[in-house]
Amino acid sequence: MSATLSIRPSGRALAADVEGVDLSRPLDAATFESIRRAWHEHLVLRFRGQRLSDPDLERFSAMFGRLDRAPTYSKGVRVDVHSDFVTVISNVVVDGKPIGDLGNAESLWHTDMSYNDAPPMASALYSLEIPPTGGATGFCNMYLALETMPAPLRERIATLRCVHDASTNSVGGRRGDYAEVTDPRQAPGARHPMVVTHPETGRDALFLGRRRNAWIVGLELAESERLLDEVWAHCTKPELCWYQDWRVGDLILWDNRCTMHRRDEFDPTTRRIMHRTQIAGAAPRSRLLDPTPAVAA
Ligand code: OGA
Ligand code: MN
Repeated sequence: MSATLSIRPSGRALAADVEGVDLSRPLDAATFESIRRAWHEHLVLRFRGQRLSDPDLERFSAMFGRLDRAPTYSKGVRVDVHSDFVTVISNVVVDGKPIGDLGNAESLWHTDMSYNDAPPMASALYSLEIPPTGGATGFCNMYLALETMPAPLRERIATLRCVHDASTNSVGGRRGDYAEVTDPRQAPGARHPMVVTHPETGRDALFLGRRRNAWIVGLELAESERLLDEVWAHCTKPELCWYQDWRVGDLILWDNRCTMHRRDEFDPTTRRIMHRTQIAGAAPRSRLLDPTPAVAA
């Protein structure tokens, strides 16, 4: 490990600062291994004071695995980057067109792109411009959410699957050409186990995606709604969360398999510009539902 690298845990349910590393330069294998280990332990890493070009962001993220293409943007967004792998998250409008997605609205708790059969294992979000107030990003620890869940509830959901709606994005906007979903049982999108086994740590985590248009496959709608409300109320409790107050030059790397995130709204007359990469992942697996376990325990 590099002599200057240090890991400072947030003291909350998840997240740590990584200090003493410049991500615009190539990392040696030992430093990268320390970062990866810290990431598995703390789920979200923050690297402050970085100055990264898009190729820097891509190079660092790609050390964790192959990059996923940017998701389908909302209608009207003019994409302002020269890479298929960098997503622009911004409310800035140029010549009447947003330069990125998600605007300034609150984004609800979610897992990135979990409507895909194989959602990204991780996302890396880098801040170029931030508003003076608002726009903080919250993360919750889904290992801990599962571990602290009342046992009867945990047992009830252990072998159930849930639909991850593909028709809306995390601020409630319509994605691509999907029609409006009026019955969650008809929602398009992947069906994933509600409890998944992390392929690298071997630990079980709650896996939810997003609340809107979710349906627990096979249940009566009312029963599914009741169970989902109970599970969601539990996993977003403040003691399971940590909030990122952005500074320019922050890079946040989160594990999309064992965390969810949300964003506070901010004043639409202020500017926020973030660039994001997403690292490809495997289809989520459950040690109970899938015949071969994700990890040889
Ligand atoms: C994302 C996302 C939150 C934010 O990029 O996936 O949810 O704070 N962003 O912009
Ligand atoms: Mn997101």
